[in-house]
Amino acid sequence: MIGKGETGSGKGAADLATEAVRRELGDFAPRVAVVLGSGLGALAETVREARRVPYARIPGFPEPGVAGHTGQLVAGTLAGVPVLVQQGRFHLYEGHSAATAALPVRVFHRLGVTTLVVTNAAGGLRPTFEAGSLMLIADHINLMWRNPLFGPVEPGEGRFPDMSDPYDADLRALARDAAREAKVPLEEGVYAGLLGPSYETPAEIRMLQRLGADAVGMSTVPEVIAARARAMRVLGFSMITNLAAGLSAEKISHEDVLAMGKRVAGDLAKLIQGVLVKL
Ligand code: HPA
Repeated sequence: MIGKGETGSGKGAADLATEAVRRELGDFAPRVAVVLGSGLGALAETVREARRVPYARIPGFPEPGVAGHTGQLVAGTLAGVPVLVQQGRFHLYEGHSAATAALPVRVFHRLGVTTLVVTNAAGGLRPTFEAGSLMLIADHINLMWRNPLFGPVEPGEGRFPDMSDPYDADLRALARDAAREAKVPLEEGVYAGLLGPSYETPAEIRMLQRLGADAVGMSTVPEVIAARARAMRVLGFSMITNLAAGLSAEKISHEDVLAMGKRVAGDLAKLIQGVLVKL
């Protein structure tokens, strides 16, 4: 029987994708990978000596199907650190499995990446949040009812990885320092990951508030679980693009989410660069 991520040749999907990326990038050795959320594409433009690998050249990487998401890896340096930027992620609401959502992370690990930076657009649940707030992710709640580790154990991952320290405390401290230095207000809280793609109802938002969530989105959780299964250190930022359903009179639209993402992307870029220079 061919298991999850296997191809019949004995190599898994992540091995084949890694070989393709290596063919494109030679001996480039990224230390950090940055996953860009909706509307944050501008961050990829700040990479120096950038080389781009379109997903079409990476076996197993689907073409992103959502407006505002381009599908490519951008390799280069950010704040002097060799990085790989993932522009365009694979969402479960597009029909992708959690393993596909996490495939890039498994490739990053094979390429030598030890630190994963995840970013996303999210709705704000905490009453003091405003559209445009930035939130450092302290923890998450997986409400996707999916897990990238489901199925046969991938080589290099355990069966039951510990998740008591999902978002690295030292990296979070560096992010708070970077925010202070850049004078960028930075909140901190819990991200709830839902399957989507419909936005939540007001009743669901009240439920999530009671569960202890501060922000809600439709991504990030699969990538973080796969990264922790490989003992990668994770830093996460949510960009609060809107107040969650029922918390303001505004209706939520993907176009507004993207537009707010673009407005806040500059501040988020400053924070990420501020952390990278301290690594
Ligand atoms: N809910 C879920 N996902 C989101 C939201 C939201 O309000 N805003 C941006 N992504």
